[in-house]
Amino acid sequence: MDVGGRHFRTIWVKPDDEGVVQLIDQRFLPYSFIIEEVHSVKQMATAIREMHVRGAGLIGVSAGFGMYLAAIETPAHPTASGFDERVARAAEQLKATRPTAVNLSWAIERQLRSMADGKTAEEKVTLALRTANSIAEEDVEHCRMIGQHGLKLIQDIARRKAGDRVNLLTHCNAGWLAFVDYGSATAPIYAAHDSGLAVHVWVSETRPRNQGSKLTAWELGEHGVPHTVIADSAAGHLMQRGEVDLVIVGTDRTTCTGDVANKIGTYLKALAAKDNEIPFYVALPSSSIDWKMRDGRKEIPIEQRSAEEVKRIGGWLDGRHAEVHLAPEASAAANIGFDITPRHLVTGLITERGICQANEKSIFSLFPEHAS
Ligand code: MRU
Repeated sequence: MDVGGRHFRTIWVKPDDEGVVQLIDQRFLPYSFIIEEVHSVKQMATAIREMHVRGAGLIGVSAGFGMYLAAIETPAHPTASGFDERVARAAEQLKATRPTAVNLSWAIERQLRSMADGKTAEEKVTLALRTANSIAEEDVEHCRMIGQHGLKLIQDIARRKAGDRVNLLTHCNAGWLAFVDYGSATAPIYAAHDSGLAVHVWVSETRPRNQGSKLTAWELGEHGVPHTVIADSAAGHLMQRGEVDLVIVGTDRTTCTGDVANKIGTYLKALAAKDNEIPFYVALPSSSIDWKMRDGRKEIPIEQRSAEEVKRIGGWLDGRHAEVHLAPEASAAANIGFDITPRHLVTGLITERGICQANEKSIFSLFPEHAS
């Protein structure tokens, strides 16, 4: 997507140095646009854990590039077995960074399978680069397709409203910053806006890290999409007043039975949407579907982050990053990163292959190759 009129992806291999991966460091958006250079798997693990990069798709793609960096960092082990041991350690290091987004282990496993086909270390490095780039390219294409399928939902509402603007609501950031390009929840919105439909987006701020107000609002603004930032707790009120036509959120992991893990606060929005008969859709590439898990509430690991993220808030003051305290120093705080929206609250899933219902039968009918 465009930043200041120039096209960017969130991550790429440095054009004149294949040993370096460049990425947009999201910690300082929207007030500073910083590109970080990552040279090692250790640095990539830090970038994922400390959320320089975040969002399910981008976490997976970053891990894919992290595995490639691990591969090229292995000059002391020119034999295939020494190489494999080192790369297996890197895989564990990357897998430990964040627990909820399934794209992380999906990308790492794919890299391990791909490198296993190489006979020499050199061949494995070539395969690792090819696979990292393929994961990134697929992410772009899948998000683009999600945009095309989700566009039809917005077009239907626009027809019903006879030209009045369509009001969407999203939570957190499942935009292009959470992927390589387009985003999942935002892809239909960008497609609708680009096709000339009048859309407006309610952006819930998403405490404690404010991915909504900092990232989604910035993205939409750069693309010229009308939007309004709201406090997380305002969504139910807007729904009761008829100010929301459609909710679209992303997901970090959705079970093959349709239970959805997404940023904390999503469940409450789904409940309010149900009570007000507002369609609640989840946009996701199939890399975010966990084909083994069946019960989201029992099985999906929920990330617990530092309590300090709740007790402080970061922003910018006079052009500089600043942090202030929000709670008494002595108070305990809990920082639960995600919640589970059970399948019965989800109207549908928007995937790269089309829209299906949030249930096993419908999901496997779109992805029959996973049925076994
Ligand atoms: O903790 P984050 O920022 O990595 O959380 C991810 C999210 O932004 C949301 O949960 C998002 O809606 C799903 S990721 C496409």
